Amino acid sequence: MTHTSPVALVTGASSGIGYAIAHALAERGYQLIVTARRAALLNDFPAAQVKVFPGDLTSPAFQDQLEHFIFETAGRLDYLFNCAGMLETGPIETIQIEKVAAMLRLNVEATFTLTYKLLKRFKQQGYGHVINISSVLGTKVRPTAGAYAASKFAIEALSEALRMELSGTAIQVSCIEPGLVMTELHKDWEVHPKDSMGIHEPLQTADIVAAVLYILQQPAHVRIPKLMILPKDHHI
Ligand SMILES: NC(=O)c1ccc[n+]([C@@H]2O[C@H](COP(=O)([O-])OP(=O)(O)OC[C@H]3O[C@@H](n4cnc5c(N)ncnc54)[C@H](OP(=O)(O)O)[C@@H]3O)[C@@H](O)[C@H]2O)c1
Repeated sequence: MTHTSPVALVTGASSGIGYAIAHALAERGYQLIVTARRAALLNDFPAAQVKVFPGDLTSPAFQDQLEHFIFETAGRLDYLFNCAGMLETGPIETIQIEKVAAMLRLNVEATFTLTYKLLKRFKQQGYGHVINISSVLGTKVRPTAGAYAASKFAIEALSEALRMELSGTAIQVSCIEPGLVMTELHKDWEVHPKDSMGIHEPLQTADIVAAVLYILQQPAHVRIPKLMILPKDHHI
């Protein structure tokens, strides 16, 4: 990898929002490290610019290996995109507690540990930017989605505290708070939320890429701690 273009780690890069962000950054000349569990889905990135390091982010050993790989390969990191996430919802009677716990391990524990691990590096470097894919449900709740919303509230709380802790430095934290985006996140739902919630034109991953690019193009004195992006039919 060269040391001239920005270096970004994109988690959750095998599908949906992470995949779209990684492709958009690769097209713009960024040097990327992409990760997710499904290695086969990470192989259609341009090989010269994109290093693939597959694994399960809920494994502390894997996070250590990933950190080592990034700094061995690229020597630095400019951006951490926390895109990996799960969604587990349901009414009290049927929600599967084991799946809720797995979601919290990924959305909260793994995201927090990776963020702190790489923020320590950002502190040593003196620069860096964490961009979290939170959710509109990081700012409000709805019935049956309490645990998912709690996982995103946790991301918002950490991000806000880190913003304060890092004020006056060249290290930034931003949260993007999307409403419904068409990805694999709802693939197992019997009724897609676009139908149950009457959202006729859900967001596309390109809309989230546009929000990312808006954040990235800000001058050095500007901070964007939060950016909510909703489909026009979103009514909660
Ligand atoms: N879609 C929406 O409506 C929406 C709205 C607001 C916020 N979000 C948030 O956006 C983020 C991206 O979701 P998406 O909509 O793009 O869904 P997605 O298409 O299902 O992508 C989720 C990504 O997370 C990765 N992942 C899941 N478990 C993992 C694990 N244990 N270790 C490493 N990677 C793991 C998946 O890859 P592998 O399966 O290959 O590991 C996949 O790349 C999530 O945080 C989600 O909460 C989504």
